[in-house]
Amino acid sequence: MELQDRLKALKEEYRKLIEEANDLQILQKLKAEIIGKKGEITKVLKSLKEVPPEKRKEIGKLANEIKEFFEEFIKAKEQEIKEKLLEEELKKSKVDITLPPYWIQSGTSHVVRRTLKEITDIFAYMGFKIEEGPEVEKEEYNFDMLNIPKDHPARDMQDTFFINKEGYVLRTHTSPVQIRAMLKRKPPIAIVAPGRVYRKDADPTHSPMFHQIEGLFVDENATFKHLKGILKTFLEAVFGKNIPIRLRPSYFPFTEPSVEVDIGCTVCKGEGCRVCKGTGWLEILGAGMVDPNVFEAVGIDSEKYSGFAFGLGIERITMLKYQIPDIRLLFTNDLRFNTQFTGF
Ligand code: PHE
Repeated sequence: MELQDRLKALKEEYRKLIEEANDLQILQKLKAEIIGKKGEITKVLKSLKEVPPEKRKEIGKLANEIKEFFEEFIKAKEQEIKEKLLEEELKKSKVDITLPPYWIQSGTSHVVRRTLKEITDIFAYMGFKIEEGPEVEKEEYNFDMLNIPKDHPARDMQDTFFINKEGYVLRTHTSPVQIRAMLKRKPPIAIVAPGRVYRKDADPTHSPMFHQIEGLFVDENATFKHLKGILKTFLEAVFGKNIPIRLRPSYFPFTEPSVEVDIGCTVCKGEGCRVCKGTGWLEILGAGMVDPNVFEAVGIDSEKYSGFAFGLGIERITMLKYQIPDIRLLFTNDLRFNTQFTGF
């Protein structure tokens, strides 16, 4: 057979074979056979020197054309096979939307934690920085420097848990964080300190561990008016714009004057019910102007600076907000209770 005819026959034969190939391995094998290093076309190109000179150019040209043809053709075929394989793979792994779904129970934060965050955010929005202190606290910070001396009856008021480390207690309130903040930085100071506190107390409205948030503001010319404004903004953000607010004179060793802040009963709207014990008012927080003795203890000049502080219980706010009758429900971790606040 003439070399030219042989080339054409090879082209036809392999074109067909490649056309029919439906697998990458077969395609690779055919590629090697036709244009690989030892392939048919390559062989022809290598043997050109044996071809009579007058035919050499024509045959060489034809062989090169065929080689280029197969390079393109095989490339296109390879692409086609790959696409087909992918399509098949996708078909096989298609999601079956008729299958019943399975339920994933995701965790969320506890209602006390959510309330704590909500309240902290309100103060953060007003510019208060968040400050934290340890739960095992120096007796000195928890009491002495807050103007509660050793023999003071207010120490008994707080039902302290003592621990077997001299000079330390489980903090009975978040107020020691005030001391820490004032020892650490100079006025102006505007902080809130959320966290756990401990008192030897357990009944439907008291738990031995509960949460408080403390606020402290110190600057030149800080007045009682500023305290009222901040507390009003806060209480309206939590309980709504029209919530009635009342301030009653009270006593705390670390503030002078001191007040107790009440809101109109959220249950009976002021008419008197069991929750407000018939008074129409609910006690929400304690507050007052920082006592000069406290400033003295931390080395702040009480002639130059004034300040106010406030403290409130998170469980109490949570219970009022959601009308929870017993504080122990917050700590027994019954999922039937806990999941009522998460929306599912
Ligand atoms: N520490 C007080 C308490 O636990 C609350 C309080 C804080 C009162 C700050 C006044 C100022 O009862």
